[in-house]
Amino acid sequence: MTTINRNVLTLDEFTIQQLRDFPHATGELSGLLRDMGLAAKRVNVEVNKAGLVDILGDAGTINVQGEDVKKLDVFANNQFTGVLQHGISCAGIASEELDEHVAFDDAVSKNSKYVCLYDPLDGSGNIDVNVSIGTIFSVYRRVSEKGTVATKEDFLQPGRKQVAAGYIVYGSSTMLVYATRRGVNGFTLDPSIGEFCLSHPNIKCPEFGKIYSVNHGNFFQYDQAVQKYIDVCQKKNKDTGGPYTQRYIGSMVADVHRNLIKGGIFMYPGTIEKPKGKLRLLYECNPFAFIAEVAGGRATNGKERILDVQPTELHQRSPLFIGSRGMMDELDGCLNGKE
Ligand code: AHG
Ligand code: MN
Ligand code: MN
Ligand code: MN
Repeated sequence: MTTINRNVLTLDEFTIQQLRDFPHATGELSGLLRDMGLAAKRVNVEVNKAGLVDILGDAGTINVQGEDVKKLDVFANNQFTGVLQHGISCAGIASEELDEHVAFDDAVSKNSKYVCLYDPLDGSGNIDVNVSIGTIFSVYRRVSEKGTVATKEDFLQPGRKQVAAGYIVYGSSTMLVYATRRGVNGFTLDPSIGEFCLSHPNIKCPEFGKIYSVNHGNFFQYDQAVQKYIDVCQKKNKDTGGPYTQRYIGSMVADVHRNLIKGGIFMYPGTIEKPKGKLRLLYECNPFAFIAEVAGGRATNGKERILDVQPTELHQRSPLFIGSRGMMDELDGCLNGKE
């Protein structure tokens, strides 16, 4: 039995401590992160007993993405939406599971600074088989006037405008990781006290890694330059340590989290049938691109930096290549025909 270190900071203590460097800060962002942590704990409780209560399986509906909605997708979406609606920091939300954005119209919310976008449950396909799943979120300062309801423009901002982004992984332990421009920090849920505690301060993505993550089943659907890079990953190479190890869980949160910590590259390229791939720019690509860049990594859609893409629709999809800087450079060599 290991002893749990009680000297570590909790998520609330950490965010409040960060405020000390900004005497004019209102604490609204800390409040929003606390709200996300609270909703995550509620989702975590359900995920942990998923086989015992009636939470597994399909909800019987299809979402705006054309996917079968799981009961846990709905539960998680309601928890995050409810907590943010009752908090004091968030003027409105957009979610993978909702057709349109929701602008909160009560007096407190109308005066809030931020909007939040999320994928409430990532890796839904893995829920029923007890494999790690997650939540991904993105926070922007609203561009509409305070005192009014949030507008669609608040949600359609390029990713570089994010003030914070984060994810929760419901895995062998539950972790919340979030980034602001100042750094990326990870907190592990201590179930005995119900608090997220700082366990991974100042996360940096190693410049090189030995893991590549891609759905190999789609190999012949990818364009030739992507196939060429996958070949590079599989070839013996004494300079890079290749062949790399292939790892693909099928829950983006878990796959990208592992590669962020250990070093690696994650790819969800476009396919012949779906040239924009599967992942959603606003709920999946942007938050992870922001986290990766703050941690020293990179993220592109194969042509341009993810964070520079101007979104035109809430649910738009984008190819994604993300990970260690050195491996991203190697990929660029193939995509630009230099390898
Ligand atoms: P979601 O469950 O939120 O709809 O997202 C699932 C995504 C992502 O988590 C994962 O990386 C990807 O789907 C896996 O897709 P494939 O099965 O096509 O590889
Ligand atoms: Mn989905
Ligand atoms: Mn997802
Ligand atoms: Mn989802």
